[in-house]
Amino acid sequence: MTEPDVERVLLSRERIETRVCELAGEIAAVYGDGEIVAVGVLTGAFVFLADLVRHLPNRVRFSFLKADSYATGTYPGALSVTLVGETDLSGRDVLVVEDILDTGRTLEGILGILRRRGPRTLRTVVLLDKVSRREVAISADFVGFPVPDAFLVGYGLDHAQRYRNLPYVGVLRSEAAGKSS
Ligand code: IMP
Ligand code: MG
Repeated sequence: MTEPDVERVLLSRERIETRVCELAGEIAAVYGDGEIVAVGVLTGAFVFLADLVRHLPNRVRFSFLKADSYATGTYPGALSVTLVGETDLSGRDVLVVEDILDTGRTLEGILGILRRRGPRTLRTVVLLDKVSRREVAISADFVGFPVPDAFLVGYGLDHAQRYRNLPYVGVLRSEAAGKSS
């Protein structure tokens, strides 16, 4: 699929598929045959979550968490959080599924809120990790790919709600990154 606003493909569909399958194996090795509550961070994680969970042998309950730090544009805004689906996390093994770890502030906020619901364990899986951008001391338990500091779109990641359905992860052209409509 060619998308004129994408400067280059960073992670092809095939590389993502292979790594997502491996990640599921790493996750399953940690949880054994226990039940997991997967908490998908909307909206960006929906593609990754859907692919990942179909490789998991575990029983999985689902919850979705809406946390907005980038409403439009590339600048962070305030974090707002709503949880829907399986909301009883008490005593459960909770796995937060997120598209990308950037400054780490979103995930830090989310984990703080979820911890108050008394999960037995609380772990995180992120497809992408922009390691060099971290502003808070946080790391994910499972990471798909470390990525450079560029604005990325596709495979769930958006810019102004576009490009989420691209089957690859690409670098957005800076001209396109400046536009929000
Ligand atoms: P953090 O709080 O800075 O770690 O931001 C994490 C959130 O910012 C992610 O869940 C994404 O929604 C968004 N984000 C960070 N980097 C990118 C990017 O390169 N493309 C699209 N969204 C991004
Ligand atoms: Mg996100």
